[in-house]
Parts: sequence; structure tokens; C-alpha cells
Amino acid sequence: MDKKKLGPQILLYPMPAVLVGADVDKKPNFMTAAFCNIMAFNPPALSVGIQRIRYTTKGIETNGTFSVNIPSASLVKEVDRCGLYSGRNKDKSKIFNTFYGVLKTAPLIEECPLNIECRVKHTLDLGSHLLIVGEIVETHITGTCLTDGKADPEKIDPLIYIPTIRKYYRLGEFVADAFKVGKEKQTRG
Ligand SMILES: Cc1cc2nc3c(=O)[nH]c(=O)nc-3n(C[C@H](O)[C@H](O)[C@H](O)COP(=O)(O)O)c2cc1C
Repeated sequence: MDKKKLGPQILLYPMPAVLVGADVDKKPNFMTAAFCNIMAFNPPALSVGIQRIRYTTKGIETNGTFSVNIPSASLVKEVDRCGLYSGRNKDKSKIFNTFYGVLKTAPLIEECPLNIECRVKHTLDLGSHLLIVGEIVETHITGTCLTDGKADPEKIDPLIYIPTIRKYYRLGEFVADAFKVGKEKQTRG
């Protein structure tokens, strides 16, 4: 066995690259976030890890709502821009066409194939980041990203972020069917 200790790291693959939206000072604002994941499906919830200093945090705390927008790989420049500049110093409200759903204060991005509306359920201070858990109240999808009425990941073409090397990727090859391949005969166990 050849294992080296790296110390406590934040190595977890893959991470998504999403755009978290909130109305701040009466304008839509979007920030790039890689710390985002689904946490429960009943009631459906997701979490985002956001630094308190982010301009977006101000809007989330004021409104108690936020959005998570899943960009396609073709939006990589816009995604990176939303992670490079803060809405505190640069107006990001015109980068995308925005719309609103059931929550009137969680701006959604027309150009992103998937949009998730969230109401803040819990906030936990983890030190560098706030862990914000949002209950998912509605999901919007661009019609052309559906196949037989279901969200089609190949059509959505989501961005993946690898933090240590600071690079964006897209989905790779199919490997196996989940909840199925494990039933096949194996060499051990
Ligand atoms: C690929 C990428 C991923 C990022 N992920 C996060 C994250 O998960 N949490 C966070 O607080 N900031 C993250 N950032 C940094 C914010 O997006 C950045 O500070 C942004 O300017 C904040 O915008 P705001 O001040 O308008 O909210 C990320 C940036 C990039 C480029």
C-alpha cells in the first residue's frame, strides 16, 4: 500500500459550478459557487457554502430566499466572471436575462437550462463559510433540455469545477448503471 497523508483538504470530486442568485439592494446578483449539493429529497433541500463577506449573502439574509442556476459549459466565461467580480463593486445584474418564479426575490437566469428556487431553512456558521440549507420550492428547466419529459444531463451539459487545479470540465463518459452493476458477480465480497 502506498498512501501519503495530505492533511485536512477539501478534495471531493466532482464539484459543480453553479450560479447562486439573490436580489441585493433591489437588483439581481449572481455569484459562482462550487460548494453546493443536494442534501435531502423529502422535503427537497440543497445546501450552499458561502462566505459571509459575499455580496450575495446580504441578499440571502435579507430576503430569506436564493436561487441556484445550473449553467451549461457554453456559459463558462459568464460563470467565471460572476466568480471574479463582486456585485458590491461591479453590477452583475445585466450579464444574464433574469426572471422570477414563485419566490419573488430569488432571481433566475434565463440562459441557464436549470433553475432552482430555494427558501432558507437553516444557516450554520462553519468558520470560513456559512452553510446555507435551502428548501427547494420550484425547479424550472429549458424545454429543449428534456428527453421524454425528464431532465437530460447531456442536453443540460453542466459545468464541473476542480478546485485544486482551478479548472472547469464537463461531464465525462458513462461508466455503469447505478443500483444495478453492484448485483453482478464480483471477484471479492
Ligand atoms: C469556480 C468558482 C467557485 C467558487 N465557489 C465559491 C463558493 O462555493 N463559495 C463562496 O463563498 N465563493 C465561491 N467563489 C467565489 C465567489 O464567486 C466570488 O467571491 C464572487 O465575486 C462573489 O460575488 P458577490 O460578492 O457578488 O456575491 C467561487 C469562485 C469561482 C470562480
